Amino acid sequence: MTTRRRLGIGLISAGWMGMLHSKAYLAVRENYPDLGIDPDLVIVADPSEANANTAVERFGYRETTDDIQRVLTHPDVDAVSICAPNFLHRDFALAAVAAGKPFWIEKPMGTGVEQSRQIADAVEASGLVTSVGFNYRHAPAVGHVRRLIREGTLGEIRSIRVWLNADYSASPEGPRTWRFVKEQAGSGVLGDLLSHGFDLAQYLVGPIRGVTSATRTFISERPAPLAGGQGHGVRADPDAPALPVENEDYAAVIARFGSGTMGTFESSRIAIGARCDYGFELFGSLGSAKWNFERMNEVDVCLAGERGYGFTRTMTEPGFGEFGRFQPGGGMGLSFDDLKTIEAKLFLESIATGRQLAPSVADGLVAAGIASAAAASASDGTWHQVPEPTGRTTFDA
Ligand SMILES: NC(=O)c1ccc[n+]([C@@H]2O[C@H](COP(=O)([O-])OP(=O)(O)OC[C@H]3O[C@@H](n4cnc5c(N)ncnc54)[C@H](O)[C@@H]3O)[C@@H](O)[C@H]2O)c1
Repeated sequence: MTTRRRLGIGLISAGWMGMLHSKAYLAVRENYPDLGIDPDLVIVADPSEANANTAVERFGYRETTDDIQRVLTHPDVDAVSICAPNFLHRDFALAAVAAGKPFWIEKPMGTGVEQSRQIADAVEASGLVTSVGFNYRHAPAVGHVRRLIREGTLGEIRSIRVWLNADYSASPEGPRTWRFVKEQAGSGVLGDLLSHGFDLAQYLVGPIRGVTSATRTFISERPAPLAGGQGHGVRADPDAPALPVENEDYAAVIARFGSGTMGTFESSRIAIGARCDYGFELFGSLGSAKWNFERMNEVDVCLAGERGYGFTRTMTEPGFGEFGRFQPGGGMGLSFDDLKTIEAKLFLESIATGRQLAPSVADGLVAAGIASAAAASASDGTWHQVPEPTGRTTFDA
């Protein structure tokens, strides 16, 4: 029988991601019983009483508050999730560090590279372990491609193309939530979607050294939001005056990697028909691979010569990364929520072992540095260098 350890969880912000973190903590007990950790959902902080109460009803938190300090100083809380809008990340993360609590924070970390750096510096000085919501790296098919690259099966990776196109704001009738306000979100798709893409690409082919970019805002104003709702489910107030959109709907980035790989990144949040069209294609001297989140349980690989040309599709199954923790056979795929469960497990295991295993705030800082360099390039039209990774990065581990 595994010795079990109770680990008290405090949730800061019970929106879409807050609900998903909660669900993931509970699923760790079920999917990773051998980890020996029983997450105990203690207290949730959110100024929206409705959202906090929903977290109580759905996940069994015992207390609610509108004061994050009550979460951070609660005697039963050992670790926290920070799932607030971006402009609150820095203050909440620094408060968690001051309280000595390991935290799992959503991406992008803060509203820009300066806030990300403040978070990463404070964490590194404290030695705390963290987790950042770079969920797409946990897909078993992505891990498979990474292994093929690391074993040399695909040869030297010459180019990678990454895209994250979504339709969540395709309608001009969609409300101007915090995501469209510079002070609250920072950048638009560069932070919201491409932070995932930068992390994913670096997880596969190593650090990006320089970028050039172009961005554009196509829908320049939107109706004000009604109060309440979560994530992209917030509704517009048809009677309120339109408000300006302050960050980009679209970004295109060209990147040079330290390995010599060349890369392109594209992202739109107004791409009609693209639900979560998040994917990559990479081409090596011996073979190539393709993956798309919309079909995340499959991966296409082509090895030059031996097996002829043309891609072969493999459906992931037990033996591919963490697949076997969730399903007993191929064809019964993992879901988005399962990727979060893997992230929660890595966070809890980091806490238990003191080793940084989950995507880290150092990784979050690297992604923010690339987004910032891309934004600078979009405004002056030149190439910008990306700062060297520092601290406990894990994309290159
Ligand atoms: N990893 C991913 O794939 C992914 C997906 C979606 C969102 N995110 C990130 O997660 C974060 C939250 O996004 P979301 O979609 O869950 O947002 P959301 O709008 O659904 O929820 C935000 C929550 O924060 C609460 N809040 C506002 N002010 C607060 C305060 N002062 N103290 C505590 N809580 C407060 C709101 O009441 C709301 O419940 C963002 O950083 C976003 O970029 C990540």
